Amino acid sequence: MFLRNCWYAGAWSHEVEGEALLARKILGERIVFYRKQSGGVAALTDRCSHRFAPLSLGRREGDCLRCMYHGLMFDAGGVCVEEPGRKVPSPRTDIRAYPVVERWKLVWIWMGDPARADPALIPPCPYIDSPEWACIPAYMHFKADYRLVMDNLLDFSHLSFVHANTLGGSNTIAEIRPKIDQLEGGVRITRWYLGEPELAPYLKGIERFRGPVDRWNIYEVALAGCVFEMDSGSAPAGTGAPDGRLAPEAMHFHSIQIVTPEDERNSHYFWMYAHNFDLQNAALTKMLSDRVEGGFVEDRTMIEAQQQVIAETGDSGMAYIHFDNAMSLYRRMLSKAIAQEQEQAAAG
Ligand code: FES
Ligand SMILES: [Fe+2]
Repeated sequence: MFLRNCWYAGAWSHEVEGEALLARKILGERIVFYRKQSGGVAALTDRCSHRFAPLSLGRREGDCLRCMYHGLMFDAGGVCVEEPGRKVPSPRTDIRAYPVVERWKLVWIWMGDPARADPALIPPCPYIDSPEWACIPAYMHFKADYRLVMDNLLDFSHLSFVHANTLGGSNTIAEIRPKIDQLEGGVRITRWYLGEPELAPYLKGIERFRGPVDRWNIYEVALAGCVFEMDSGSAPAGTGAPDGRLAPEAMHFHSIQIVTPEDERNSHYFWMYAHNFDLQNAALTKMLSDRVEGGFVEDRTMIEAQQQVIAETGDSGMAYIHFDNAMSLYRRMLSKAIAQEQEQAAAG
């Protein structure tokens, strides 16, 4: 079950360069992305209208894509422009083209009604290409239902356990009660950990200060496109971070994590973890990104194992605990939005 009328991150811009054809399944639909010579990105259904050969095995010809089975050729709008041996292609040979917009170094794709594909609805992710922040755009694949990945993002209590030696570091994270706000299109979660004895393990070796820490994770998770956007950081304890005063040695981060469903049991994970200090230090950007990725691999191991158990036993009868507030709120909102969308589609 997916929300369809929204923009999903389909690829990083750098994944769609030159003559390459990028095959990627999104919401269970096979798509082929390619960069047009005239600029911009095309996204076509990765299935030829003739005998359903994948067009990702095809050949670029200018801005067109030729199926390399029997040679039908399609333009970037999905129109069949050539059928070998005929002046005009046979009827019903056109294929679906998806609306795409490139923004924030990402290729966004609209999987629903094309008439509603308004670029103004693309989620704001300005930290990705801001000159005041440094990050590395990254991708991972999860063999899990996107909702399990979202559950994980909506409940940071797991940092104390899954990430005890990486992103977490203390049981405080699980023990505090976050503030949860319902927004119009998602959820905001605010977590402060004041007076922690030391920085989290993933910051060891790149610390800008030592001693007790005031740490925060403040993030919003949108229903549309499953976009997680977080302001986080660590400051010397008692220097005013909770009141908005950041000490010069504070370590301030911004992270975007976007979970695009591949199908019911697999997910794409586009992410970046940006810092706004030592901007010219590429080694620092790389080290930070590698360490965060190490944390996400820990998530993936747990979530994929959880997915396997659920696949075998089903997911009814799960116990509900107080950590689950934000996760349940988000799931309820998502189910409602999907149901509304399906009702509208049925009525329309
Ligand atoms: S399957 Fe594509 S032209 Fe025949
Ligand atoms: Fe995690």
